[in-house]
Amino acid sequence: MTRESTRSVEVSGLKREFKSKSGPVVALDGVSLDVGEGEIFGVLGPNGAGKTTMIRILSTLLLPTGGAAKVMGFDVEHEPEKVRRVINMASGAEKAGYDFISAKRNLWFFSQLYGMPSALAEKRITELSETLGLTKYLDRKFYALSTGYRQRATIARAFINDPKVVFLDEPTIGLDVMTARSIRDFLRSEASKNGRTIMLATHNMAEVEAICDRVAIIDKGKIIAAGTPEELKRRLGAPALVMEVSPPPKDLEMLRLVAGVKGFTSSADDERELSTIQVVVESDAASKGALDAMTASGHKVVASWRKEATLEEVFVALVGSGFKEREEEVGS
Ligand SMILES: Nc1ncnc2c1ncn2[C@@H]1O[C@H](COP(=O)(O)OP(=O)(O)OP(=O)(O)O)[C@@H](O)[C@H]1O
Ligand SMILES: [Mg+2]
Repeated sequence: MTRESTRSVEVSGLKREFKSKSGPVVALDGVSLDVGEGEIFGVLGPNGAGKTTMIRILSTLLLPTGGAAKVMGFDVEHEPEKVRRVINMASGAEKAGYDFISAKRNLWFFSQLYGMPSALAEKRITELSETLGLTKYLDRKFYALSTGYRQRATIARAFINDPKVVFLDEPTIGLDVMTARSIRDFLRSEASKNGRTIMLATHNMAEVEAICDRVAIIDKGKIIAAGTPEELKRRLGAPALVMEVSPPPKDLEMLRLVAGVKGFTSSADDERELSTIQVVVESDAASKGALDAMTASGHKVVASWRKEATLEEVFVALVGSGFKEREEEVGS
């Protein structure tokens, strides 16, 4: 099979402008990306980056003002009813459901909107509730569910119609660690076992690292980096080798000569007569080269370990400030 035929989502030069009192706001500014079948694709970005706008366009709730997007080969602008037949979506921020009917009735209601035969609907509700740990709470009225269970029900709803592609906007926002984890486990199994494509918008980097096969980092409506979480971290060339060296070297010229070493920083601990050196490397071979060079220069490597860059470090390197600071800026 060619890659072409396994694309579930194709976005090309997508634009969306909103009119506002203070002039036009460009929410999406020429975004292009592809998502393969069975892939979990993360759209990661700070507040106002354009994530929700993208999810809404792809799930046919909003029209683009430029560019194009296809889901399972159908154009979101010109064939929305065909797109709707193969997708579903949910937003963690909304946790939508009818308050005065039970969780089960809610799921049933949505299954009927999709015209599912009764027996099949029953079966799906039972299965989804079991995998999402919702079974015990099915008979509770929606309003009486805790945030976590309401969210589980919202997620169940997004998979009720056996969708090929599911769009999720902040699926675990506001949830405790255990609930978030069980939802992530569920999403991962839906992608790997049932071949569903999942595109999720989030500003949670741990979420992306935990479940996304690939990620696009967006900021101000533009993709600023894309790849697997590993690739992004590697491309950044963040500190990957840390060594404690004794005695503290007078200079680090020996590291400069090692192929694949991109840079280093060090700090000396005079009391312990040690230097801690962080080496930015391209590959494991370069790490080994750095260790060998240090030993060959007459220094003892007391300890060494690999340090993985976090996506947060990647983001900081790309955008120049962390998410938290951004959020404070936006909030103030
Ligand atoms: N209906 C609208 N009218 C005017 N501007 C809008 C509208 N919807 C979104 N925007 C603007 O478009 C930009 C992108 O918004 P969007 O909601 O897509 O961001 P986001 O990445 O989902 O942010 P968050 O993390 O806060 O959910 C923002 O500047 C926002 O103010
Ligand atoms: Mg949003």
